[in-house]
Amino acid sequence: MKWLNLLVFFVVLSVNPPAEVFAGASSATCKAWLVQSIPTDMPLLHRVSGVLSSGEVLRWIAGNATRRLDVIAQYWQLLAQPGNPKSGDYGFSAADMERFGAGEGAAVYKALEEAAKRMVNIRLLQHSGVYPDYTQEPSDLASGKPNVHNVTLLLSKWWGSGIVHAKVWISDSNNIYIGSANNDWKSLTQVKELGIYLEHCPIIAKKLEVYFDNLWTLSSLNSTAYTRTVWDKIWQTSRMVPCWSYFIPYKQRCRSPLGHYVEIPHVEGYPIISDPYRFHIPLVTPGYNVSSSVQHTSYLSFAPPELLFDEFQADEQAWLETIKSVRYGGIVRINTMDWLGQSKYTKQTVYWSSLSSAISEVVFSKNATVNVLVAYWTHSIKGTEKYLKSLLYSNVLCRSSKNNNCHGKVIIKYYKVPGYNKTGAALANGMATGNLYPAYTRVNHGKYAVSDVRAHIGTSNLVWDYFYTTAGVSFGTYHPGVVAQLQEIFDADWNSPYASLVQPLQAA
Ligand SMILES: *[C@@H]1O[C@H](CO)[C@@H](O)[C@H](O)[C@H]1NC(C)=O
Ligand SMILES: *[C@@H]1O[C@H](CO)[C@@H](O)[C@H](O)[C@H]1NC(C)=O
Ligand SMILES: *[C@@H]1O[C@H](CO)[C@@H](O)[C@H](O)[C@H]1NC(C)=O
Ligand SMILES: *[C@@H]1O[C@H](CO)[C@@H](O)[C@H](O)[C@H]1NC(C)=O
Ligand SMILES: *[C@@H]1O[C@H](CO)[C@@H](O)[C@H](O)[C@H]1NC(C)=O
Ligand SMILES: *[C@@H]1O[C@H](CO)[C@@H](O)[C@H](O)[C@H]1NC(C)=O
Repeated sequence: MKWLNLLVFFVVLSVNPPAEVFAGASSATCKAWLVQSIPTDMPLLHRVSGVLSSGEVLRWIAGNATRRLDVIAQYWQLLAQPGNPKSGDYGFSAADMERFGAGEGAAVYKALEEAAKRMVNIRLLQHSGVYPDYTQEPSDLASGKPNVHNVTLLLSKWWGSGIVHAKVWISDSNNIYIGSANNDWKSLTQVKELGIYLEHCPIIAKKLEVYFDNLWTLSSLNSTAYTRTVWDKIWQTSRMVPCWSYFIPYKQRCRSPLGHYVEIPHVEGYPIISDPYRFHIPLVTPGYNVSSSVQHTSYLSFAPPELLFDEFQADEQAWLETIKSVRYGGIVRINTMDWLGQSKYTKQTVYWSSLSSAISEVVFSKNATVNVLVAYWTHSIKGTEKYLKSLLYSNVLCRSSKNNNCHGKVIIKYYKVPGYNKTGAALANGMATGNLYPAYTRVNHGKYAVSDVRAHIGTSNLVWDYFYTTAGVSFGTYHPGVVAQLQEIFDADWNSPYASLVQPLQAA
């Protein structure tokens, strides 16, 4: 086996000498590392080596920035507030905070302050933030510094509901983080997160900057002048969309005020792109050794569809194609915080079976096994289990007739981070609550899918709203190192004692 690998390696080398295999030339190559946050007190979880931690990556990105730094955030809480009675951190002692790892968030904040002092041009774009301090941190970072700009973008003014939910850092048009980690100290050490760090990848960074610039432009436009409430034929609902939306009949659409947008006539909904934009750049994975150095393509995808440009695909399409990329008899692994076959935040409820249909399709026709890991925590969405059982019913349908040649299956597990039901402030009304961890912690928050050939790392939860009214960004790749290591990360969770089977409905 070893010899075979060596042989393959040698053949690849001699046929096409790729610069990236030589250490000396590697500084000019795009490098990718998977990035995780693993909550404290999870002794029974197997650790996958070669994976970076969210805290160190965010610190490095800020620390290495020399010219510019662009950050898309949902909200900011990098500094813990155990002394603030309104905070979910309230009442925990200094020793507790140290044990929780709160210093990681403070270190990221400090790295941002230092980048600001170095006169790096910083742009911070976020949703309104969260209780109790909303946009205090980005505002403090920007205060009195002409080189730091912060804006709040409310997507509900454009899509009727929805938020900026992408978590993206880009420095010097070169280094990138995309993933599930919020700019929150808890996301670094008390919430389970998954992302990717791309170092020296200017071609990818440039495209992400287009998306960033479009969001930045939206924040300064008068949404009233650019939105319509229309009948969305695809989702059978009346909803507000930007006037250039594909959900508006072609002749009634306005010209997009965004610098980059593609006008596609006669498309209803969003364009399903047959040959989505792919990056054909060699990627090396210093955190995971692969024996071949063949180039593998990568991609970005974006939500909502009105923010698409070039030939990039919508985030929903990228998820669907990741599921459908599975080979015959292969395995798809899906990790998500939320799972819901409908919308959650819209006035009219939208039914949304896109992902469960794709799963059933590969179970039926490709003999695929689909493993879905869903978070179970204090704030799990009501109704989730009914949708999970509905998806599990595909196994019954698959075997419903002797004439079926259907051998695949879907397996679903809940993931419980220990302590999930003991979260919240330590003190309330002067009384000890008995909570062991701060509020909004102890949850598996990553959003990714990996088949046997393709890895997709996103920021969107698996609920309709995230794909149609919410800002989200994903990075995906066919690189075998990223694929294999992401499978290992998933399997570590899936096979841990923190995961437990969701029981099926009984067949009638
Ligand atoms: C810059 O990034 C490298 C990893 O590429 C890291 O080792 C180093 O600590 C970072 N520098 C700063 C100042 O954060
Ligand atoms: C940062 O943005 C918030 C929300 O838009 C705004 O209230 C605040 O004044 C801004 N701070 C600075 C220093 O620009
Ligand atoms: C925004 O646009 C609406 C509709 O065109 C207009 O009535 C309103 O005055 C504009 N608001 C601002 C602040 O320009
Ligand atoms: C990759 O292989 C090299 C050489 O065999 C070894 O030194 C290194 O530790 C390996 N890295 C990982 C992440 O396994
Ligand atoms: C389907 O896949 C399983 C592995 O998951 C394999 O054991 C089985 O033989 C396959 N069946 C068919 C009909 O291909
Ligand atoms: C909290 O979760 C644990 C582990 O799932 C369970 O054993 C325990 O009964 C739960 N406690 C409460 C109060 O729900």
